[in-house]
Amino acid sequence: MKIVSEILEQRVSTAMERVAGQKGCAAIVRPSTDPKFGDYQANGVMALAKKIKVDPVTTAQEVVTNLDVSDICESPEVAGPGFINLRLKSDFIADRLLQINADPARQLGIEKTGEPKTIVVDFSCPNIAKQMHVGHLRSTIIGDCICRTLEFLGHKVIRQNHIGDWGTQFGMLAYYFNWRLLKQAEEKVAKGIVFDTADHSIPDIEEFYRQAKTLFDANPDFARGAREYVVKLQSGDDYVLSHWKFIRGQSLSHCQELYDQLGVTLTPNDVHGESDYRDSLPSVVDELRAHDIAETSDDAICVFPEGFKNKEGEPLPFIIQKSDGAYLYATTDLAALRYRVDELKADKIAYVTDARQKLHFEMLFATGRMAGWAPENVELVHVTFGSVLGENGQPLKTRSGENVKLKELLDEAVERAKAIVEEKNPDLSPAKKDEIAKAVGIGAVKYADYSNNRTSDYVFSFDKMLAMDGNTAPYMQYAYARISSIMKKGKDRGINTKGEVASVETPSLTELAELDLAKYLIRYGEAIEAAIADYRPNYLTSYLYELAQKFSAFYTKCPVLDSHPDKRPTRLLLCDLTAKTIKHGLSELLGIEVVEQM
Ligand code: ARG
Repeated sequence: MKIVSEILEQRVSTAMERVAGQKGCAAIVRPSTDPKFGDYQANGVMALAKKIKVDPVTTAQEVVTNLDVSDICESPEVAGPGFINLRLKSDFIADRLLQINADPARQLGIEKTGEPKTIVVDFSCPNIAKQMHVGHLRSTIIGDCICRTLEFLGHKVIRQNHIGDWGTQFGMLAYYFNWRLLKQAEEKVAKGIVFDTADHSIPDIEEFYRQAKTLFDANPDFARGAREYVVKLQSGDDYVLSHWKFIRGQSLSHCQELYDQLGVTLTPNDVHGESDYRDSLPSVVDELRAHDIAETSDDAICVFPEGFKNKEGEPLPFIIQKSDGAYLYATTDLAALRYRVDELKADKIAYVTDARQKLHFEMLFATGRMAGWAPENVELVHVTFGSVLGENGQPLKTRSGENVKLKELLDEAVERAKAIVEEKNPDLSPAKKDEIAKAVGIGAVKYADYSNNRTSDYVFSFDKMLAMDGNTAPYMQYAYARISSIMKKGKDRGINTKGEVASVETPSLTELAELDLAKYLIRYGEAIEAAIADYRPNYLTSYLYELAQKFSAFYTKCPVLDSHPDKRPTRLLLCDLTAKTIKHGLSELLGIEVVEQM
């Protein structure tokens, strides 16, 4: 089904064009903020009137005369300085409900896009050889929600986990391994020390890197050896590479465990890290030089994309090769951009990183355009986000000032959720308690992040995110579980709930609360569109939260199982569609599990 606001947009625009005698009029149809003004408002007439220099109210009236929406709305009304208020007809709403009900459950009446695109989403992208920390949370889950939503709408999504898996720290680590192995050979007999790289996973490797850095600064022999290894790694020395592969493998299994715990759709197949581009870096530089896009400046090779200036007003360089020959983050991103357009055939590339990389991506996009690697018809978007803060308003850190490990954060969330379940529902089986605790704990962390406007910072608070009231995961999960229990109770009482839902031919929406809920249910597609248009999951959480509240209002006013048998099927239908919508939003689009019982 086409989204209601889109249909109205088209109809009103057409009427405006007729009145103005010109094409390209925007109706600007928005949901009304106050039910007094109907369900939707068209706000475009004022701008049009100003443009063609006529009275806005008279124009709005003429537009209404030329407007045919009788199949959808009551008679449109002109209000204020030239708004057009539109109120949906109950019959139209009822009919939509039936169509949603007839649609295979998962689609909920939402059409796939008529213009499917190939969209590359670059997200998560940790620098590996250390544990993932809270700084990786937002990119990982916001990116995941974007992928899920685009796929649901029918786009081809290519996930790219552009991990930082190449560079000096790997040479240093490889040398550290070697150094420990050599030491062991000397000391083994005497002390019985056994150092086997295979025994170590990421937490150890992270510690080794710390030790390697200390040694690097303190011990000239170590520093010399480490530098040699960095060069050997770059030239593809088999022995050094074997250490690198080991470290990389351990890191990736650590990341995958977290992706699985988070319910994020990334798999090992989506990893396409910096190391994959190492052979194409020389050609990036060569090509840019050959086309006079890059030049040597202060010994480094740089691009000076137009419009980028430093504080002194001098052109800002996008450095692609240092004087010692080393390539940079920028070079790899240029290679990746070229690959994604040429090989992956991307129509659009969305990069999900924190706002601090804004300048990098602006310069990357500008350079990509100059080089012709990203032609104008390929859309490049930087989806930024703010920081996760501690209660003190500073970026979230441990007491000792380190980054909070993502694993520890998630485990704590599940543990806290478990304590709540134990308290509220001590009689559940241990397995059930664990299942609920996992859904609620992980869900709470994700939902709290999603429900904040992504461009703002937010304060991480277990207490707030685990609260049973307010716009939280537990509240939403409870809303779902509550409807499930209504349905279950119905069945226990011998009511054929499924059969009644399927039997509804003309929903009877006589109560205000029924109508209000029904109207909101048919707007799910609008919420999805709004969320994806600007990559803002908080539009989805807001919608779901409001839906749950409307359901609550409905359920307080309108008995369901105890209603008159004539009314019951419609009310069961409203329950069923609410549950399906919440479940779909949470589990399919946000990747948050629902539970039947809480
Ligand atoms: N690894 C980078 C970091 O941790 C993020 C990479 C984002 N993606 C990209 N194509 N540059 O900051």
